[in-house]
Amino acid sequence: MYNSKIAGIGYYVPENIVTNNHLSEYMDTTDEWVQERTGIKERRYADKHKESTTSMAVEASKIAIERAGIQKEDIDFIVFATLSPDYYFPGCGVLLQRELGIQKTEIGALDIRNQCSGFIYGLSVADQFIKTGMYKNILLVGAEKHSMGLDFTTEGRGVAVIFGDGAGAVVLQPTEDKNKGVLTTKLHSDGSKAEELALISPGAHGGYFHEDKSAFGFDESNEKFGDIFITDKMVENKWHTPYMNGQAVFKKAVQKFPEVILEALDEVGLKSTDINLLVPHQANLRISQFVQRMAGLEDHQVYNNIQKYGNTTAASIPIALCEAWEEGKVKENDLIVLAAFGSGFTWGSALIRW
Ligand code: UT7
Repeated sequence: MYNSKIAGIGYYVPENIVTNNHLSEYMDTTDEWVQERTGIKERRYADKHKESTTSMAVEASKIAIERAGIQKEDIDFIVFATLSPDYYFPGCGVLLQRELGIQKTEIGALDIRNQCSGFIYGLSVADQFIKTGMYKNILLVGAEKHSMGLDFTTEGRGVAVIFGDGAGAVVLQPTEDKNKGVLTTKLHSDGSKAEELALISPGAHGGYFHEDKSAFGFDESNEKFGDIFITDKMVENKWHTPYMNGQAVFKKAVQKFPEVILEALDEVGLKSTDINLLVPHQANLRISQFVQRMAGLEDHQVYNNIQKYGNTTAASIPIALCEAWEEGKVKENDLIVLAAFGSGFTWGSALIRW
């Protein structure tokens, strides 16, 4: 059995900076409200027609591959975490393979649909493959293009101001050093609150989980054959944009973040005082600060960049980890803790000895 180490890391964010003041031109919001409630000052939005979730992933991947000192043809498996895929299907994993121009081998590609905790779920999956010796160079990516799927009216302001676009990538390789790399990962879910943070339609649910099927434009007494995947009513009721019960998500997040970090530390016999750097999913600066207090960490032990990029969901951890590494805040032998909570609900943590 091997351990998996991060051999290379990269990130990409679009050039276009969108400030809170810019958003206030489209909805009733203020820079003061957004900064006070979330910590966000600005975020990046992709060029609508020239950039996609996959194209941003390509840029991040090229950097990670180069830093790992390998060629793209050495990649033997792709894991791609996103909630904003280019297509409903096929997933972004195969698109990334194509756009990177990986031709030599018919490698495997897997998409992960675990939203904010997608990168940690992906890391855990990749770690298992590396451990068993099945793969030697796994490209793991988290990427999001939220800017095309938000409701930019006042009705959608509670969600729209939070999210940003970007991509982060790592190359995972085996190491025989048992004290290095991914020490453990912890994964959890609670599907009972699935609709508290969700994008409901289009989907194949047909109103199954909802009493009022007419809200989706379904008329059971006058059922017509076909034509049900996207209805006018879905668009009218904005079921194609994300819904979030912010307070419910917040309450659960501040409970589960510390819990899942301690669970991982306990398993390997470490304590929060052993943490060199916590890189939490960038959901809300207030959540990160709460987790920091619960874990008794100093400011320099927690990395936050939500101020610049907003919440980039599956991309937030690899972007933050890469920035921290580039700034020299991730050093050889450091204990790095990753943790995330989000839609599903799903949450998880990972401990990495760098
Ligand atoms: O990464 C995935 C996981 N997501 C999270 O972890 C997010 C967790 N939740 C949150 O971060 C926070 O709940 C939000 C930032 C989304 C919202 O902050 P909040 O302090 O919970 O505000 P709220 O939803 O309770 O809304 C308070 C007020 C409301 O007005 P009334 O009803 O008090 O008059 C909202 O309509 O703030 C209003 N509001 C806004 N005002 C200005 C909501 N969004 C905005 C806005 N600008 N953008």
